[in-house]
Amino acid sequence: MVYYRAVGSIPRDRHVLYSLPDGSPTFEEFIGEEGFASTGSLLYHRHVPSNLVDAYPWHPGDDAVTANVPLLPHHFRLPDLGHAAGQDLTRHRRLVLANPDVRISYVVGTEPSPLCSNAIGDEIVFVEAGAARLESVFGTVDIRQGDNVVVPRATIHRWVPDVTAGPLRALCIEASGHVHPPAKHRSRFGQFLEGAPINERDIRGPIDPLVVPGGDAAGSDTEVYVKHRGADGGVVGTVMVYDHHPFDVVGWDGYLYPYAFNYRDIVPLVGKRIQPPPTNQVFEGPGFVVCNFVPRPLEFGEGSIKVPYYHSNADSDEVMFYFAGETAARKGSGIITGSVSLHPAGYTHGPRRAAYLDSPNHTEATEMAFMVDTFRPLQIGEAGRASAEPSYPWTWSGRGPGIADE
Ligand SMILES: [Fe+2]
Repeated sequence: MVYYRAVGSIPRDRHVLYSLPDGSPTFEEFIGEEGFASTGSLLYHRHVPSNLVDAYPWHPGDDAVTANVPLLPHHFRLPDLGHAAGQDLTRHRRLVLANPDVRISYVVGTEPSPLCSNAIGDEIVFVEAGAARLESVFGTVDIRQGDNVVVPRATIHRWVPDVTAGPLRALCIEASGHVHPPAKHRSRFGQFLEGAPINERDIRGPIDPLVVPGGDAAGSDTEVYVKHRGADGGVVGTVMVYDHHPFDVVGWDGYLYPYAFNYRDIVPLVGKRIQPPPTNQVFEGPGFVVCNFVPRPLEFGEGSIKVPYYHSNADSDEVMFYFAGETAARKGSGIITGSVSLHPAGYTHGPRRAAYLDSPNHTEATEMAFMVDTFRPLQIGEAGRASAEPSYPWTWSGRGPGIADE
């Protein structure tokens, strides 16, 4: 739920036959969460949205994961993954970490994606670099570096990179259900509270309808790449072919639609002593939360520890994606821009000794990071295995397997 939005042509009354000025009919569709019992939107199509003419499987990519055994913290150097030409933001994601609730993948795309839809859950796409146009049945949202982009489950959409802005790099969080700004930052009626890190003015959604002209002409059969659950709970794919182009919505209204906000708009909370990470929470989903960390002045209290003190997240695995700035807490650990760290439940983590003791001397944090805390253990995907930095677990002590001076 974000807030109510109305775009394009919609009838005064709901659930009535509605024709356009030229006399052509529209076809009303409800896209709703939790059946008909929660947030949703009503869309008005020029064509029957169910007009399927073919379907066949496609393979969404390497889904295999390995357990984090022996239990260790990890550093994944995502820039080391590189990227191939001709890839897009939806079909070429590489799995870094996953559990039954959430899949965290990384992708570098330079080409427009095909039409696609995730039938498993909402997606949060964090844009590390580049710019794009997110096109969907709801309309268009212009996307820029640093955007948190939410694409609701089952929304037919596609990503069109802006080639002048370089490759589109993104960390993709695929949920198993719906994601929302956290309830604790909103009133019981949904409005963002005073003190919330974001507010309604930061939310960018579609403004106008997006209708592809001639979408029902001969030869306009259109493929949609759909991700859905397989028999074993894994991810499988089906290409569904419609007899028209699905971008045929002349208007819609409701609370469910794709939207974006930028980390630059986040208002961090700063205090006398260090604030716990949940003050920076921007999303909650089934089995996980997301925080954004942005540049800020540091704590003003005498002698304050200004890096995250040692902590054991007893109930969560903690994933940090460091996308810009300098990370004081992990200074000297090899973390670079584009790194992902995993600090699992069962392991106490924090800054290196020198960073901890030196932190009261600092006045400003330049770190920019995207954090996912999951409530079930994460397993390591193909891209995680390919980019793991083997010395990371031993960077606190300076000793361990493979450390040269041991
Ligand atoms: Fe942490």
